[in-house]
Amino acid sequence: MIINNLKLRNFRNYSYLDIELSKKLNIFIGNNAQGKSNLLESIVVLALTKSYLNVKDENLIKDGENVSILEANVNSLNTNKKLFVSFSNSVKKLKINDVEIKKYIDYVSNIKFVLFSPMDITLIKDSPAVRRKYFNIEISQISNNYIKLLQKYNVLLKKRNQFLKSINDISFDNDYFINILDDNFSTLALDITFERKKFIDDINNYIGKIYYELTGDNGLMLVYNNSIPFDEDKELMKNNFIDKLKDNYMRDKLYGMTLNGPHRDDYSIYLDGKDLSLYGSQGQNRSAILALKLSLLDIFKDITNDYPILLLDDIFSELDLDKRNRLIKYIMNDIQTIITTTDLDMIDESLVNNAKVFIVDNGNVNVLEKEGNKHE
Ligand SMILES: Nc1ncnc2c1ncn2[C@@H]1O[C@H](COP(=O)(O)OP(=O)(O)O)[C@@H](O)[C@H]1O
Ligand SMILES: [Mg+2]
Repeated sequence: MIINNLKLRNFRNYSYLDIELSKKLNIFIGNNAQGKSNLLESIVVLALTKSYLNVKDENLIKDGENVSILEANVNSLNTNKKLFVSFSNSVKKLKINDVEIKKYIDYVSNIKFVLFSPMDITLIKDSPAVRRKYFNIEISQISNNYIKLLQKYNVLLKKRNQFLKSINDISFDNDYFINILDDNFSTLALDITFERKKFIDDINNYIGKIYYELTGDNGLMLVYNNSIPFDEDKELMKNNFIDKLKDNYMRDKLYGMTLNGPHRDDYSIYLDGKDLSLYGSQGQNRSAILALKLSLLDIFKDITNDYPILLLDDIFSELDLDKRNRLIKYIMNDIQTIITTTDLDMIDESLVNNAKVFIVDNGNVNVLEKEGNKHE
């Protein structure tokens, strides 16, 4: 996956930006608050049609302006696409190859990325809701089916909760509506559970080895804390879940919401049998998240036949020299990488020599001309 060209108009602190990226390594250097993270965020927005986690669309438009436009030419598996996202007066427009796309699901996933920023470290100690959201985004990048499942599930969850709030009597056994609803609800709940399990299993094929390469320590694994217990027999698993929903009708009704299901799932990371959220040092947590992100590179490649782009936001100052060097090994691969930093000295000279280097200064970006410049 390669972004060849990125154009921004009134996005965050950029009035106008038009840059050609290197197919390999790109480094954006600049002081704090110049627009380095904003630039990476623009790629996230072009990929997902929204920013990461809790950012509102209107915050993306440059202060005092009305319309924000983002464009990129991307290439994956020998197919070129021109992507377009614009925001104005709370109207979002999406285009692929100049054709307007009405449905979010027909637009997303044309840019696949793995982003690593210092903020990600908190993922281990964040609330389950944040982790669910994070993994939803990652799984959605590689599975349109998962996006559809989530959408349908959330519609039914809302219906179910509304129903629970609206009814008075509690003889559900014969209630046609709730029985049909719970049947459909549990089918979707199981499908989501299986997709999540598959994703976590895939990560576990890589994460332990990568963590070992980064730290020399064995035994890192991701754990999926699924709300619906697994059973070899899917029919039985589903029926057990439906029974559980039934058993909890009274409680659910009392709370006015459904207290069981994948919307209550969680994930944790264990090192040598211990939960990092309880026992992990900062260094261990940082390396664990880095290992998680690096394993995503392999998983995306396995599933889509192409590497995602790797976005590293100001992380070099956080890592010791040893880990930086190990990380470089990954960057040297066929993966288009964008690094931001305040200090070029943080980055190995051999990397800098092979990179296209941009200087970011208050929303303006210029290419640093180097001697013997030979980036592509
Ligand atoms: N909607 C916006 N309009 C104008 N400026 C913005 C907007 N959102 C953020 N900024 C500015 O962008 C700058 C932060 O950019 P950022 O990319 O986070 O910097 P850094 O180079 O440190 O990563 C701040 O000066 C902030 O005021
Ligand atoms: Mg930043």
